[in-house]
Amino acid sequence: MSEGKKFYITTPIYYPSGKFHIGTAYCQVITDCIKRYKQAKGYDAYMLTGLDEHGQKMQTVAQKEGITPQEHVDRMAKDAKKLWDLMDIQYNDLIRTTEERHVKAVQKIVKIFLDKGDIYKGEYEGWYCMPCENYFTETQLVDGKCPDCGREVKKMKEEAYFFNMKKYEGWLKEFYKENPEFIVPEKRKNEIFKNFIDPGLEDLCISRCTFDWGIPMPNDSKHVLYVWLDALTNYITALGYMSDDETLFKKYWPADLHVVGKEIIRFHGIYWPIFLHALGLELPKKLYAHSWIVMKDGKMSKSVGNVIYPETLIERYGLDATRYYLLQLMSFGQDSMFTPEDFIERYNSDLANDLGNLLNRTVGMINKYFDGVIPTNITEKTEFDDDLHSCARKQIEKVENSMDEYHVRDAIHEIWKYISRTNKYIDETAPWILAKEEDKSKLESVMFNLVEALRKISILIEPYMPHASNEILKQLGIAKEDATWDSLASYDKIKEGTKIIEKGEPLFVRLDKEEEIEYIKQAMKGK
Ligand code: ME8
Ligand code: MG
Repeated sequence: MSEGKKFYITTPIYYPSGKFHIGTAYCQVITDCIKRYKQAKGYDAYMLTGLDEHGQKMQTVAQKEGITPQEHVDRMAKDAKKLWDLMDIQYNDLIRTTEERHVKAVQKIVKIFLDKGDIYKGEYEGWYCMPCENYFTETQLVDGKCPDCGREVKKMKEEAYFFNMKKYEGWLKEFYKENPEFIVPEKRKNEIFKNFIDPGLEDLCISRCTFDWGIPMPNDSKHVLYVWLDALTNYITALGYMSDDETLFKKYWPADLHVVGKEIIRFHGIYWPIFLHALGLELPKKLYAHSWIVMKDGKMSKSVGNVIYPETLIERYGLDATRYYLLQLMSFGQDSMFTPEDFIERYNSDLANDLGNLLNRTVGMINKYFDGVIPTNITEKTEFDDDLHSCARKQIEKVENSMDEYHVRDAIHEIWKYISRTNKYIDETAPWILAKEEDKSKLESVMFNLVEALRKISILIEPYMPHASNEILKQLGIAKEDATWDSLASYDKIKEGTKIIEKGEPLFVRLDKEEEIEYIKQAMKGK
């Protein structure tokens, strides 16, 4: 156990400009999953998520809807909370950058920078990408388009405040020398070095006077803060930095892990450490830049008609299947492709077949052979037991090692190896033959081992599939307190006389492949 240890984990704060698709959902799920894992391991885990509500984009979207930006973001915040509840995301706090607690704190932070002389007034000219709200230099453009999203950019010029990044360039390089594993995967660090640090840092433009939906500069009300200083500081203002530093901030800062998409790693890997250093604050322990979920024809976009929303999958296939699919899909450093075919295939083979059947068969046999009472008085063993037990030991260790490195997909694969090994154990021991031969003590031992394996599996899958985990325990009649992470090594948690469910509902019902592929395809087209 890690008694007294804390783990502060964050998601990006999302732009509430449109409905959230499975890309955003993925980031929520992986963060929630890591949080649940740390919690299971005994950490005091705290998860922050939020919404990035300022900026020109929000103003434009609201205008189109004929409402005020505030009305728009209020609506979106409601929808976001509803979705995170549907997805059983266990966040501790959701910060909205329009909240007073954030606005006030950000203004104080800017004031500190102004007083320190880290901010100066100048004129900015550059190539501006409206959707990304970001200026680029000529050399950063890719084929004359935005290097982040590939859309058109416009040459723009305006009076603006700048943060003196150059001043901290030497420090930043030194920091990375001493903390080479600050960013994972490593290639993301190499990219920002190559594109932004090695060529020499440019000062960051932090204000705008061309729109007003933002936090006013405390010294110059003509200007509102440009989105990144406003956005990044959410990770500390949400903990009460600059208003109540003695409670949450003292307890949880520095963050243990910022989970972000790979396209915003440069803001988190360059500007965020510099802001923190300039404030004299500790730096986060790690940045995890995850890759993207992509579709056959590239990025998800409404106009292409290839967007898939989490609600669609959850309503038809359940939350666990949706979480499982997203988490097992994404590789640690590469974009991963969602396809309806693969979704249904994984559902049928991993969930209905491997996991679902294991529970079904076990429950069925205990009802049939032992009137639903799990045998616990074990006197015999089969030649296959040792291998099953050593597989459990090995796989649990591999799951932990993978999760400790945030290799979530690998962790899932390790769990599934254990599930497969347990299924194989049924075939090897052939309980139906033991029953016929009336080899009762061996049959007792096999049934006990199966339930024990399922108990361990239910513990292991909890961070990924919390409902399936509970359902397994419920069907087996095992209490939650007898299924803690700590008890993974034990074999004495199943109480004598434990009665399983008489007729268990299947965890996952096998799907008609063709029909369901068609269903998802139609949903992607918005039908
Ligand atoms: O960038 N695959 O907000 P944002 C995987 N407000 N993840 C995806 C994804 C996809 N196809 N699409 C989006 C912003 N994401 C800023 C962040 S943080 C201080 C400010 C996820 O609404 C991914 O995590 O564009 C990405 O970084 C995040 O959504 C960006 O959300
Ligand atoms: Mg984005």
